[in-house]
This record gives sequence, C-alpha cells and structure tokens, in this order.
Amino acid sequence: MTIGVGLLGLGTVGAGVADILSNPSGRHPLVGQLELRRVAVRDVSRPRPVALADHLLTTDPEAVVDDPAVDIVVEVIGGLEPARSLILRAIAAGKPVVTANKAVIARYGQEIAAAAAARGVYVLIEAAVGGGIPIIEPLKQSLGANRIQRVSGIINGTTNYILSRMASEGAAYGDVLAEAQRLGYAEADPAADVEGGDAADKISILATLAYGGSIERSAIPTEGISRLEARDVDYAAQLGFVVKLLAVAEHLGSDPDGTEQLDVRVHPTLLPKDHPLAGVHGVNNAILVEGEPVGQVMFYGPGAGAGPTSSAVVADILNIAGIRQAAGANGALDPLLAAGSWRQCRLVESGLTQHRNYVRLETTDEAGVIGRIGTCFGREQVSIQSIVQFETSGGAAEIVVITHEVSEASFRAALAAIADLPEVQTVAATLRTL
Ligand code: HSE
Repeated sequence: MTIGVGLLGLGTVGAGVADILSNPSGRHPLVGQLELRRVAVRDVSRPRPVALADHLLTTDPEAVVDDPAVDIVVEVIGGLEPARSLILRAIAAGKPVVTANKAVIARYGQEIAAAAAARGVYVLIEAAVGGGIPIIEPLKQSLGANRIQRVSGIINGTTNYILSRMASEGAAYGDVLAEAQRLGYAEADPAADVEGGDAADKISILATLAYGGSIERSAIPTEGISRLEARDVDYAAQLGFVVKLLAVAEHLGSDPDGTEQLDVRVHPTLLPKDHPLAGVHGVNNAILVEGEPVGQVMFYGPGAGAGPTSSAVVADILNIAGIRQAAGANGALDPLLAAGSWRQCRLVESGLTQHRNYVRLETTDEAGVIGRIGTCFGREQVSIQSIVQFETSGGAAEIVVITHEVSEASFRAALAAIADLPEVQTVAATLRTL
C-alpha cells in the first residue's frame, strides 16, 4: 500500500527528501511505497533543484496538511511560525509528523508531544539534532536502560569549522567567519550559530530525551565563539588543549521530591587533546553519551546539509510507514518511539555548578604578581592546576591560569578580587575546561 507524504518546505532539506523519495532504487523497499503527494513552497515559479510535477506544488502549507491524500506531514520550513501551528494542525488531523525543526521542538516540544500523545500520533525528530547522525532514536530507545550521567557534544558545524581553522592556521575569528560566509558554510546572519543559540536548542532536546523531563530552553546559559581570540586558541594548544564549542547536559543529583538536578550549558571549552571530542574537525558533529552501565558511546558524522539531514528525515518517515504497515493505520503507539516525559527536571543555578577554568590575565611584569593572583584564588578555595606566564614585553605580561574543578561562585569571587589588584590590567579571557 502506498503512503502519501506531504512536504512543507522545499529548501535544502526538503529538496534532499524529495530526491530520496523519487529515487528509491537500491534503498529499503519501503522507500518505494512512499509517494510525495503535495509540496508547500514559498514561490511556485522559482527554479527547483529537483524536478517535481507542477500539480504537486502549492503556496498554501495548510492545504498540504489538510490534503486527504497526505498520510504523513514532513515539516522542513524551519523557524517558529508557521511551523509550530502547522505541526499542531497535522496532529489535530491525526497525521503523524516528521520535523527537522530544532527551534520549534526546543521551545514547544512539550506542547507538541502532549498534543501528539492525546491524538495518538507520532512526531519524530531525528533530523533536528546532528543532521545525519542517529542520536534521537538511540537516546529514546537503544540507550533507554541507562542512567545517563552526561551528554556532551559538538552539535554546531559552522562554529566547529571556524574553530578548526582558527586552531590549524592561527587565524582570527572574524577572518575565518568572513571566509566561511563566502564559501557558504556560514549563514549571512550567523548569529544563531556563532552565539550558541542553535547548539542550545539542540542540547535542550537531547537533555529532554536523556533525562525524561522538559528543559526550560530560555534558562540554558549560552555563550558562543564570537569573542574568542586567536591567542587563547594558541595558548590552549600550547597547554595541550583544543578549543571547541561544547553543549553539555549533565546530571548532578536529585531533589528530595525526586526532581532531577541538571547542568545544561553551551560555551567554548578547552578539551584535552586526547578527549574523544577533540579530534572532531570541520563541519562534522559528534555527541558523547556517558551512561551507567553502558559507559561511553560516541556518535560522529555530518551534522548538516541536504544529504545527511534528509537521510534522517526519510528514516523517520520509514519508521512511521513501517509501523503503519505492521499495525494498520490505527495501530497502537510504540511507547519507546513516542517521545514523552516521565520526570521533573530543573536547571541548577549556575553559581552552584562546578567546573575547571582557563583564565588569561594581562598584568604588569614584576615580582610578586603571580603570588598575589594565587592568594586571591586560594582565599576562595580555588585550587590552581597550572599557572604560566606567556608574552612579556615592555613591562607587561600575560598570565594563564588553569584551575582544578571548583565552584562557579568561588571562581567568580576570586576573579573579582583579581580584577581589583593594581597589577592586573584586565581579565582578558575566561573559558571552561574539561
Ligand atoms: N547551522 C547548523 C550548523 C546546521 O552549523 O550546524 C543546522 O542545524
């Protein structure tokens, strides 16, 4: 039996999906049973990267959702609206949805999951995080038996490309970004990528799946790479680290009422060169899941682009199509495939979290400066792992400190005291360290 697919959006990902559906040869036989029945585009007269019959195209996305020939709705428009409303409209009509939209799922995932559960339809989101890397279904299903201690990932390809080139060439952030934009690796408006918002959307989704409770997206502390200086990438390398934009979700403990305490954050991070994520370069993504009893499992691959993302979208369509075929159109929901909350989670106030840190200070170059800096850290119980003086010229010095794992509040208090020392011109950079 043929299954009708309705596509909302025919941009990079939509065209990739249309291409797979129109070329089923050599793929799973179910692909040949999927038929593209309606496609919503912004402008029907625009040239298309894929050949589609004119009668399939419409500028009315609601007509795609409402079309009785459409059994599964695929949302690849992106952005919050009308994407959210269209997803809810499809659910209300009893149609399963496949979406690549991390922004909508990170903000409205609970509303959408509740509507889907009430109506008994699937909403599958494999393409929303990590492009072609399977990470959503593994977290929901294959790793379901574990207590997840931490999920950490390089989940933004644009920033990883920029950081990789900064590290290999010693280039400045602004220069690499400008070239990435020329080459089409970075958007004309790169804010969502370089300021960390895209990675925060994605880690919010991964944390929700790993810990089984909703995460307040707007509460995730997020720092991008736009203020990162080439000299910090260089000093980090000299100290045995690689700088990556890391998104992390970590389980810290439980409240007496059972609410799970999580530390979820996005920031540039110094990784030891032998860390599994340190060797992930260019536009690739990788996600490291640490759980008990499984240990460390790493997922690696292309995190964006037409081919990888449409691979994930079509896999979700096939999952739904397979279940429909096995169970009939009104077959029972598979509880492990369906997203759902089973716990309360809260983000722990950032001052109460513990981290290792990298600090670069610009100081005068004279006797006793390192001692006074050390005293400020010591007074706040901030233990130093290493302290190194780098550039020295004209009576000025750059001092880089790596701390042991310390409380964020103590670290901030020590930094405030250091900034007040007359020998310290500026706290020039602070970065997290693994
Ligand atoms: N802009 C994202 C990235 C890809 O650079 O990884 C889409 O999620």
